[in-house]
Amino acid sequence: MNQIKLEIDKVFDFVSKHSVTALAGDAKKANLMLEKGNGNGNKFLGWLNLPSSTSDKALSEILDSANLLRTKCEVVVVIGIGGSYLGAKAVIDAISGSFDSLEGKRPLIVFAGHNIGEDYLVELSRFLTGRQFGIVNISKSGTTTEPALAFRILKKQLEEAVGKDEAKNRTIAITDATRGALRTLAGKEGYKTFVIPDNVGGRFSVLTPVGLLPIAIAGIDIAKLVAGAADMEKITGAGTPFEDNIAEIYAATRNVLYRSGKKTEILANFNPKLHFIAEWWKQLYGESEGKEQKGIFNAAVDFTTDLHSMGQWIQEGERTVFETVISVAEPEHRLEVPTDPENLDGLNYLAGKRVDFVNKMAEKGTQLAHLEGGVPNLRIELPKLDEYCLGQLLYFFERACGISGYILGVNPFNQPGVEAYKKNMFALLKKPGYENITL
Ligand code: PA5
Repeated sequence: MNQIKLEIDKVFDFVSKHSVTALAGDAKKANLMLEKGNGNGNKFLGWLNLPSSTSDKALSEILDSANLLRTKCEVVVVIGIGGSYLGAKAVIDAISGSFDSLEGKRPLIVFAGHNIGEDYLVELSRFLTGRQFGIVNISKSGTTTEPALAFRILKKQLEEAVGKDEAKNRTIAITDATRGALRTLAGKEGYKTFVIPDNVGGRFSVLTPVGLLPIAIAGIDIAKLVAGAADMEKITGAGTPFEDNIAEIYAATRNVLYRSGKKTEILANFNPKLHFIAEWWKQLYGESEGKEQKGIFNAAVDFTTDLHSMGQWIQEGERTVFETVISVAEPEHRLEVPTDPENLDGLNYLAGKRVDFVNKMAEKGTQLAHLEGGVPNLRIELPKLDEYCLGQLLYFFERACGISGYILGVNPFNQPGVEAYKKNMFALLKKPGYENITL
C-alpha cells in the first residue's frame, strides 16, 4: 500500500524489453552473490540485513543519546564526510520543514568536516559562540583529514566554552570498534561512542548509528525509517522473482542502458527536499561503480529549478544520458492557487488547482519532452515523503547498487581511487611518512 514503485516502461523506445529481461539471470545471480557472500568485497556486506537485525535495544540506545543532546543543546554539529555525512543530511533535509532552522526549531543540526573551507569553519565557529552546542564526530577510519581538522577546532571551542567535563558530556564519537585515532581519542577523553560495524562501508552506513543518531537528534522517527528499510529488505531478496523485484529490475535496466551508450544517469527530483538524497545517491553509485575505467557517471538535478538551467542540455545535448525521476505522490501539505479578480498574471486558469497538480503536470510534460528528445526515463514513486517511505528508498538504492555493481563486473564495496588525492595532499603537506614522495 505504502510501497515505493519503479516504472521502467519509458525506456523501451530506446532499448528492448527483451534486453532487460535478458539480464534477469545476471541480476538474480548478483543478488544471490550478495546473499551468499561469495562475490568480491564480501567482507563489506553487513548492510544487507542491517534493517531486519536492528534491535529495539539498539534503537533505544541511540534515542537516549539523541535525547541527551536534544536537552542540552541549541545546536548540534555533526562532523563527517562522504558516507559519514550524506545519509544523515539527506534524511534530515527530506523530512524536516524547509524553514525549520529559520523558525528557530531546536536543536539545529549543522554539519562540519565535509570540506576544508577556512571561511566555513570561521563562520561556523562565530555562529556557535554564545550558543549551547554539542558535537557528534563521525569517522569510520578515524583518520580522515577533513573531519579530524574540524573536530580539533570545535573540540577546543567547546571545552573553552563549557569546560572539559561538560564538553565530554556533549560529545559523541561514532567510529570503528577498535582502530583509528578517533577511537583512541574517544577512549582517552571518555566520550560516549557508537560503533560503525567493520563489515559496513561508509556509503552503506546510513542505517547504522552514523545516520540514525543525527537523524534522531533532529527529532525524526528512526524506528519508522528502519521499518521501511526492513520491508524493502524483504521484497528485494533473491527469493523475490525478477519481475517483482524492483532492486533487480533497476540494476538490470541501468546496465542495459549503459551498454547501449547511455553513460550518464541523471537523478531528477520534483521536490527540493530531495536534493541531498541525490547527493547521497551520487556517492553510493559513483564510489561503488566508477572503477576499472567503467561505470555510469552519476549526475543530479532538482526540477523544475534546473529545467531553467540544465534543461537545455538534457533536451538537446549529447544523447548519452538517461534520467531516473523520483516523484512524491502526495505532499505533506495542501495549497491551492487563489483566484485573482484582476488576473493580471494570467494565472486564473489554474485557480482552485493544487500547486502539486501544477508540479505533476510539469513532471509529465518534462518526461514527454525528454523522451521526445532522446532521453530514456525511469521513474520511482514514493507514496509520501515520510520516514517509512524514505527507509524503503534508501535500502532499495543500496540493494540495487550491490546488484548493479556485480552485473557491471566490479567490486562495488571498495574505493581504491579515493586514496590518490590523499597521497598527494599528504606529500604536499609533508605529513610524517609521506616526506619522500616526489610529485
Ligand atoms: O564510502 C566511503 O567509504 C567513504 O566515502 C567514506 O565514507 C568517507 O571517506 C569518510 O570516511 P571516514 O568515515 O573513515 O572518515
